[in-house]
Amino acid sequence: MSEKIYDVPPEWATRAYLDDHGYKTKYEASVRDPETFWGEEGKRIDWFEPYTKVKNTSFAPGAVSIKWFEDGVTNVAWNCIDRHLDTRGDQVAIIWEGDDPSESRHITYKELHDEVCRFANVLRNRNVEKGDRVTIYMPMIPEAAYAMLACARLGAIHSVVFGGFSPDSIAGRIVDCGSRVIITADEGLRGGRKVPLKANVDAAIAKVPADTVDHVIVVRRTGGAVDMTPGRDVWYDEAAALVTHECPATPMNAEDPLFILYTSGSTGSPKGVLHTTGGYLVFASMTHQYVFDYHEGDVYWCTADIGWVTGHSYIVYGPLANGATTVMFEGVPSYPSNGRFWEVIDKHKVNIFYTAPTAIRALMQSGDEPVKKTSRASLRLLGSVGEPINPEAWEWYHRVVGEERCPVVDTWWQTETGGILITPLPGATRLKPGSATRPFFGVIPQVVDAEGNIQEGACEGNLVIADSWPGQMRTVYGDHERFMQTYFSTYPNKYFTGDGCRRDADGYYWITGRVDDVINVSGHRMGTAEVESALVAHPKVSEAAVVGYPHDIKGQGIYAYVTLMSGVEPTEELRKELVTWVRREIGPIASPDLLQFAPSLPKTRSGKIMRRILRKIAEDEFGNLGDTSTLADPTVVDDLISHRQNKK
Ligand code: PRX
Repeated sequence: MSEKIYDVPPEWATRAYLDDHGYKTKYEASVRDPETFWGEEGKRIDWFEPYTKVKNTSFAPGAVSIKWFEDGVTNVAWNCIDRHLDTRGDQVAIIWEGDDPSESRHITYKELHDEVCRFANVLRNRNVEKGDRVTIYMPMIPEAAYAMLACARLGAIHSVVFGGFSPDSIAGRIVDCGSRVIITADEGLRGGRKVPLKANVDAAIAKVPADTVDHVIVVRRTGGAVDMTPGRDVWYDEAAALVTHECPATPMNAEDPLFILYTSGSTGSPKGVLHTTGGYLVFASMTHQYVFDYHEGDVYWCTADIGWVTGHSYIVYGPLANGATTVMFEGVPSYPSNGRFWEVIDKHKVNIFYTAPTAIRALMQSGDEPVKKTSRASLRLLGSVGEPINPEAWEWYHRVVGEERCPVVDTWWQTETGGILITPLPGATRLKPGSATRPFFGVIPQVVDAEGNIQEGACEGNLVIADSWPGQMRTVYGDHERFMQTYFSTYPNKYFTGDGCRRDADGYYWITGRVDDVINVSGHRMGTAEVESALVAHPKVSEAAVVGYPHDIKGQGIYAYVTLMSGVEPTEELRKELVTWVRREIGPIASPDLLQFAPSLPKTRSGKIMRRILRKIAEDEFGNLGDTSTLADPTVVDDLISHRQNKK
């Protein structure tokens, strides 16, 4: 474990919002008196009706209830657009960089206003009203942000589904939230390859009960041929030509829902994480300002996809609430070459750059040359998100990309947390490569052991959060029981993150990864149970168990153990077929990296699969299998070891 420490660069100590003393003072105030702290901070957004209540939250067993600013009335789109029009209507809100380096667009706040209003009017003409759910399945084009903001303007709840998900995955999400309107594009474009988005939506609709979906709005991106169902499907440009660019922003209560985002857990189908209006926006805006030390005029680029929470909070809502210029990138880091990120930084004079460890590790493999060919003189700050960053990748990012001049903020958070919870602040925090360092304002992390005993000082255990913060998810859409069960039943009165961590003597947090059956593949969160149920849906598969294993680029890879129906031959062809099957069932991000045919799986005498053993085999730790005496048939393990798939 690296224990190298980087001091705050001298110029940062003077230009940043806060130094170390400032951080400590503000942090203490935030946890001593959250009511006063957030009561003040809530004013960073504009309210149609001011709130008189600030915090009303309870993690009590069976009665979890989270409300912030509950009697305030506002609108998220109004805060992200309209309130900037007087002062920065002509400033660029979104810089869009296309997959093809010759394509880019600059959209001012005034243009954003007109586009979002048009989009909202197109939705309104299709009877979309406050509280309705709208599914968005889009490539990374400005219309994706317009669609999200248009929903927010009307008070409709968007559910963005990542463009890499399969028709089955889309269908499940449409049905779960009951959305009658889908927004998509003809095709996406990534790394020069087309993604059949509209065709996937058509296939998804074929899988949901008839009459679920009334309207499909299709944005033209590539101009590729797609089927249009008369009466149901409409081209966005044709519909938009018929409406005005004025649309009032619906007054929303602070606790009215803003969006649903599906995410994987250890059991069952993905959960609809529900975020609401006021607290979410206050938290996204505040974290964006302090963590990235955002100042007026900065060009800020987060490379995430809007299909994930990072895209919601740190491409769209946080930056736009702060009146920033946010870069939206359609492509991939390796196209047309491995220098693409650095070229885009020079092209748009990016000051703040936020990406994922998996991208850093992949680019690091192509050496320093593609980076050094570019200037990157505009860069001031680097960020990392989505998975633990190994110290080697951190050092490379800091030394080669940031030329030792740019602090690296390793930000820990989750879909459920709405915004960043543990992170350095660049002017305040001495950095240790691999550590997310210290809690953000108002966040009280604790480390507990398996029984829930709070650990003090330097320690290791499970990470919980002791009290609510404004960006916290409010419920699982349509299933509050599941919300309480998943997050608040393991350790009563605490939010359980599902992550393990270590805290060092300086109070720095080192996230060690998930302690549940969730794996993190290239920063994409995957429930092993989802991959297993996709596998057992194949007619030749009788049983499957999926675990993660360490992967040099992806962080974790997917290792699947598959038991076939009796009489089925385990062939190389079938192995490939099963990998393709999972891709088709869930999406390419869920493809197993390694798939081993197992005549049987290690089980206890009561029939429970012993995943601990499967994980050890996948990790190549044969000597350390622990107690296998409780297995119904201990010889199964020897067979699994002798047939272990080779790591890539
Ligand atoms: O395990 C942690 C890991 O990603 C999980 C959350 O995934 P998701 O909801 O998809 O959100 C990702 C983007 C916020 C966490 O439970 N994770 C996220 N950021 C970090 C991290 N692990 C270590 N360090 C991080 N900076």
